[in-house]
Amino acid sequence: MINVAKIREDFPMLNQNKQMQNHPLVYLDSAATSLKPQTVINAEIDYYQNYSVNAHRGDYDLAHQVDTMINETREAVADFINGTPEEIVFTSGTTASINLVAFGYGMKFLTSEDEILLTQAEHASNVLPWFKVAEITGAKINYIPLDESGKLTAENLRKAISKKTKIVAVAHVTNVLGYVVDIKEIASICHEFGALIVVDGAQSVPHMPIDVRDTDIDFLSFSGHKMLGPTGIGVLYGKYSLLQITDPFMTGGGQTAKFDMCGDVNFLAPPIKFEAGTPHMAGIAGLKAAIDYLNAIGMDNIYAYEKELRIYAMEKLAKLDNLTIYNPDADGGIISFNVNGVFAQDVASYFNSRGICVRSGQHCAQILIEYLNTVSTVRASLYFYNTKEDVDAFVEACQEAGNFLDAYFG
Ligand code: ALA
Repeated sequence: MINVAKIREDFPMLNQNKQMQNHPLVYLDSAATSLKPQTVINAEIDYYQNYSVNAHRGDYDLAHQVDTMINETREAVADFINGTPEEIVFTSGTTASINLVAFGYGMKFLTSEDEILLTQAEHASNVLPWFKVAEITGAKINYIPLDESGKLTAENLRKAISKKTKIVAVAHVTNVLGYVVDIKEIASICHEFGALIVVDGAQSVPHMPIDVRDTDIDFLSFSGHKMLGPTGIGVLYGKYSLLQITDPFMTGGGQTAKFDMCGDVNFLAPPIKFEAGTPHMAGIAGLKAAIDYLNAIGMDNIYAYEKELRIYAMEKLAKLDNLTIYNPDADGGIISFNVNGVFAQDVASYFNSRGICVRSGQHCAQILIEYLNTVSTVRASLYFYNTKEDVDAFVEACQEAGNFLDAYFG
């Protein structure tokens, strides 16, 4: 069970009667980034105040303390998704993780005979790296057709996949429509055809339990900052056998056992071979605190609460006749919509004037926006610290936006 009033006390952005435009802050943009609990902020401060030395290099107690913290975080991340610590690579975020797979694996193994399958609903970070790989290797990009509501289905994957398909790169939960893909079923079809399933988990890992073993995901990318953690820290999970054959995307200090003047380089074993340079140590400390916080609440509880809040929102929104909702039957906390006849950016500005944070535009998913046959949408995204009162304020703003903006712009 979620005690949302108590949870909100843990978040400085929510517990200090913060105002925006003389209204209480209603934060409905967690798909862009989540708010941070005090424990995460404290973990970062603790690193900077008490043991801010470098990792992997020092022969003194403080350096050992950093290495221990990094190892413990790696173990915590592994437990969180049911991987092993050797399969957890720290990156700067989902974008860097997907680029690592694209350039470290895709560039190495794909040829002009091969095909990469995407969907039209992918975020730019799960499209553009593959465009680049295709450009350089000659591999073809194709798209799994979405169904009429914008979902990726197993049936449609079967229509698109072939023995030429080597990579299927899809979001577990898409960032605009928020539909949850049955990733276990999708992974099983990919493997039947000998393709790898590369999953963008940026919008799923923060919101629901994920088990990489049970789902048989090959690569999974996610960001700390969308799951209560700091910005600039993210994760790539890869099956160990795949990480072993993947090349580093970045090279530099800390990842080699040996290199010489002839250019011979021996990389350390994964995950260290992918982590060139000084790690984001404060971020790693904060990520551990974020995972501890999420575990204490329970990912099942978080997901159940978000679904309940969404149902509450959808029941209220269904009574309004001035909205187009693009994902009425999604499960999680993402609601994408337009107020009929009003530009999405104008709606978002109006919401701002009422203290409500939402995102408007194309949400880095330009191909989807074409599919939806609109120029932009407004996106409200819920997390487990949101309340029914937040939803009430949102619904009221939706109701009044049409009238207000018609009067103002009409
Ligand atoms: N990827 C983030 C979003 O969808 C920034 O808003």
